[in-house]
Amino acid sequence: MKILHISAECYPIAKVGGLADVVGALPKYQNIQKTSSEVLMPFYDNTFTQKNTFTTLYQSNVNLGSQSFSFEIKKLENNELGFDIFFVSIPDLIFTNYVYSSDDTDRFLAFQIAALDWILTLKKKPSIIHCHDHHAGLIPFMMTQSMKYKKLRNIPTVFTIHNAQYQGWFSYEKLANIPTFDSANVGLLDWDNQINPLATAIKCAWRVTTVSPSYMEELKKEANGLESLLLHESAKCVGILNGIDTDVWNPETDHYIEKNYKITQVQSGKRVNKNYLCKRFNLDNKKPLFVFIGRLVGEKGAELLPEAFDLILRENNSSILLLGSGNTDVENELEILKEKYKGTYNTFIGYDEKLSHIMYAGADFLLMPSRVEPCGLNQMYALRYGTIPIVRSIGGLKDTVIDINENGFGILHQNVSISDMVYALKRGEELYQNMPKLKKIRNSIMNINHSWETSAKTYVNLYKSLNQ
Ligand code: ADP
Ligand code: GLC
Repeated sequence: MKILHISAECYPIAKVGGLADVVGALPKYQNIQKTSSEVLMPFYDNTFTQKNTFTTLYQSNVNLGSQSFSFEIKKLENNELGFDIFFVSIPDLIFTNYVYSSDDTDRFLAFQIAALDWILTLKKKPSIIHCHDHHAGLIPFMMTQSMKYKKLRNIPTVFTIHNAQYQGWFSYEKLANIPTFDSANVGLLDWDNQINPLATAIKCAWRVTTVSPSYMEELKKEANGLESLLLHESAKCVGILNGIDTDVWNPETDHYIEKNYKITQVQSGKRVNKNYLCKRFNLDNKKPLFVFIGRLVGEKGAELLPEAFDLILRENNSSILLLGSGNTDVENELEILKEKYKGTYNTFIGYDEKLSHIMYAGADFLLMPSRVEPCGLNQMYALRYGTIPIVRSIGGLKDTVIDINENGFGILHQNVSISDMVYALKRGEELYQNMPKLKKIRNSIMNINHSWETSAKTYVNLYKSLNQ
């Protein structure tokens, strides 16, 4: 079975968040199931593409209404990713060093059209096309509706919603950019008088998945305006929990961290990594170290952090380190706190893959007070590194973390509120005072298996059910 994943991100080529981690791992684990799983993504001008070599497989022009852009399909050479990866290069539109920007409508529409133009020319066509998030959301529509792609109509499509907050809305002024289709079916593109690629994908894909079972249920109640659509389409929707790439996220072999460790060495291994962080960021290593890693946006509950940190730090029982970027007001508030709590608090505004690994390894607790969390990978990485997750009970967090009061291994809070968060942090401080219990939990969480193996099989079974 030949599966083609189509996505805007893929680790290690271009990563903004968890979408990249998923698309960079799932195909590898699917190939272990004896499928031929491949990825197609835009060609960005970034460190990865500058350092690697590519073969050009195909050249043509892609039309966006009356405009025409030349494009190439490239393939990565000397690839050790565990799957083949192809790129749509449109130098005039997507040869940039960022993944997302303000002109995304044209960039990703051209990407999707060029992708299908190329697939049309393939002798051996994919048996399944698996699209990820709204950037690839018009593909199921074009495959079933655009005259030009008639030959692709029988290829089953799977669409995964990684995040329903972002839907890729654009106005009808750009309708003519979509390859010609029967205008009687224009309603398939519509949601609330706008073209909505996420809604379109939910309507047109053969199957729709989300990245955790709880998130699927939550979307039927709250999906940034699409809840009635998800309810209506629920028969073809299923929640499949993400996994993690245990080759990349392995404290025994992780080349980013200061000291590698296995379960039996977790105390000493974590200590070396914690000491590194405390020295580098001027933090008290005798206190429990709480960390936050992520996008500073409303979904992640980021606006709670400055006040919650202020309240907990004034009692002087904890150290806190934050890595992230996003909302500038939140960034500024977090920066201001640095002066006030020198020696117990620090923040690194930006993106740093290496630092994130050391933080998973060196922290005692990882904070995720998310308002919305479709799956969340951070908590699973934390578990693998023996770091206790303190999370809001929502989406994938609810599906992966059990509270210590219920014979579990993490700390859960119900509400996105300062008081809930501060109480959860205090429970963390209390647990830290009970070292024997904390050590026992560390050992047990490192044994939890969140590898992709199970979910990769579930996806393959889903594809098989469509290919009969
Ligand atoms: P989301 O995709 O919603 O941001 P996930 O939990 O699925 O959330 O995945 C986030 C991924 O991005 C993880 O691999 C996390 O370590 C990484 N990450 C987030 N912010 C940063 C940052 N500032 N620096 C390094 N890695 C980050
Ligand atoms: C999205 C979600 C996150 C999920 C990731 C990978 O970015 O916000 O919860 O883990 O996709 O599926």
